[in-house]
Amino acid sequence: MRKKLIIRNVLLMFVLCSLFFVSVISAEDATEQADVSLYERLGGVYAIASVVDELIDRLEVNDVLNANPILDKARTEVPKAGIKFRLTAMLCQATGGPEVYHGRSMKESHSHLNISNAEWDEMVKVFSKLLNDFKVPEKEQGELFALIGPTKADIVTKK
Ligand code: HEM
Repeated sequence: MRKKLIIRNVLLMFVLCSLFFVSVISAEDATEQADVSLYERLGGVYAIASVVDELIDRLEVNDVLNANPILDKARTEVPKAGIKFRLTAMLCQATGGPEVYHGRSMKESHSHLNISNAEWDEMVKVFSKLLNDFKVPEKEQGELFALIGPTKADIVTKK
């Protein structure tokens, strides 16, 4: 009888210890996942540069944006490779990567372009479609737009 009790207690202790370790390991997993930066989840600089490369190519031939004569002119005068380079650096930095953005502020680089609300919405539409094409998960898309959203006040200047 006493032997049975000891075996039962040992088994109970074993089950409780296992439950404790499983919960500690799951908590560590959750913390590690939360620690992974958006930059890493997007795939780092090569993945971000690829998205930016395609984004600028699509925006450059967009009829809604090119109906704005200043944007149409900028497209022929501002080297596309430069915008791609700077936007990549900016997004890498903003998402937690090691790259550093050395370009102008959003106000400085956009205030002369007379960008309207409708043009901003068109950019968001093109960008969303592109992120879906690149199979960027919804969570990461949300985090990316949360970073970009606040720049609108400096970019949209058309009254
Ligand atoms: C409707 C939306 C937008 C349009 C039409 C647009 C268009 C442009 C154009 C034409 C330029 C070149 C301007 C020049 O050098 O004269 C430029 C530069 C740039 N844009 Fe945008 N842009 C838009 C939104 C954004 C957003 C949301 C971001 C980032 C959050 C961004 C980041 C940049 C950067 C980093 C540069 C380069 C700045 C520099 O050279 O120092 N743009 N954009």
